[in-house]
Amino acid sequence: MKAIVCEEPRVFKLINQERPQLEKDTALVNIKRIGVCGTDLHAFTGNQPFFEYPRILGHELAGVIESIGNNPYGLKQGDQVSVIPYMECGKCIACKQGLTNCCTHMRVMGVHFDGGMTEQISVPCDHLIKTNALTLDQSAILEPLSIGAHAVRRSNLQKDDVTLVIGAGPIGLGVMQAAKQKGAKVIAMDMNDERLAFSKQWANLDYSINVLNGPVEQLMNITNGDMPNIVYDATGNSKSMMDAFRYPANGGKLVYVGLVKSDITFSDPLFHSKELTLMASRNATKEDFNFVMESIESGFIDEKSFITHRSTFDDLPNKFKNWLKPESGVVKGMIEI
Ligand SMILES: NC(=O)c1ccc[n+]([C@@H]2O[C@H](COP(=O)([O-])OP(=O)(O)OC[C@H]3O[C@@H](n4cnc5c(N)ncnc54)[C@H](O)[C@@H]3O)[C@@H](O)[C@H]2O)c1
Ligand SMILES: [Zn+2]
Ligand SMILES: [Zn+2]
Repeated sequence: MKAIVCEEPRVFKLINQERPQLEKDTALVNIKRIGVCGTDLHAFTGNQPFFEYPRILGHELAGVIESIGNNPYGLKQGDQVSVIPYMECGKCIACKQGLTNCCTHMRVMGVHFDGGMTEQISVPCDHLIKTNALTLDQSAILEPLSIGAHAVRRSNLQKDDVTLVIGAGPIGLGVMQAAKQKGAKVIAMDMNDERLAFSKQWANLDYSINVLNGPVEQLMNITNGDMPNIVYDATGNSKSMMDAFRYPANGGKLVYVGLVKSDITFSDPLFHSKELTLMASRNATKEDFNFVMESIESGFIDEKSFITHRSTFDDLPNKFKNWLKPESGVVKGMIEI
């Protein structure tokens, strides 16, 4: 069967490899859609420091079950599924508390071991979500949107909270969507006006502001001087993450959804005087996937405009380089098999 392997930075190769075998507690899934995200782009360009090559990328996956044994999840041959690509150990301190999203020994498909840029993969049955009521495109965007849903759940957002989401990329869009759906007032902030306009319309937001135009003053105006009580940073930019300490209200929360490889410093007087809560949010759990699936079923999510670029499997090595360019305007690239 066909697979696309990232042999070394900037080199994709179409190869032929053996089909996986059906093993106990796993299913063989024929891959139909592969979403492309920042992690794949960084892996391709060689910007993921601890990434090992060669590697088959792909962790935003939708497909159809080709074969499966007895399982307690009611899954059977022919079911359409979405894949939860985070493989937890099930035994560590985090897993024992149900925090499988931050397992001590986390292994992510398409990152730490080969992923879904191929015709068929083997997946543990408990990492499949039945999505027969969704389209394949909708099934493939459960993973990226569940990252935002997890951040919102983790922050314990309440109806009528006033939230700021910094970074209007695919991850920030997921946060905005989930916060909006839970009844919060949502303000988007970015430096890219095009992305701001898109996010405001896509997630039906209350406000969008450009960080280059005096963010504190704008937030003060919008919130009548209170400031937002939950701030999510989904930029992956350390300056933004440090500046973000200025934005939450007293008693508020700052949630880092985006991440950087460097240190972050902040003013303790600012942190303490506001009695802020600082949180990280990592990956997602089945609960978050189910939340996004229900949102899609209820018609809250417009996947058609979220998916901005498409490629066939064979064409990907040609198209991928274009998707790396900011001027291509990619929000979500989708590969079809
Ligand atoms: N929590 C998780 O498990 C998880 C999962 C996947 C990705 N991520 C991380 O989420 C982050 C966002 O991912 P993405 O794919 O949406 O990225 P992206 O690059 O597509 O989007 C980031 C957005 O932030 C904006 N931005 C950058 N610097 C800014 C600044 N100083 N002020 C305001 N806006 C700024 C950019 O203009 C862009 O629109 C990355 O750090 C990524 O690694 C986290
Ligand atoms: Zn991803
Ligand atoms: Zn674990």
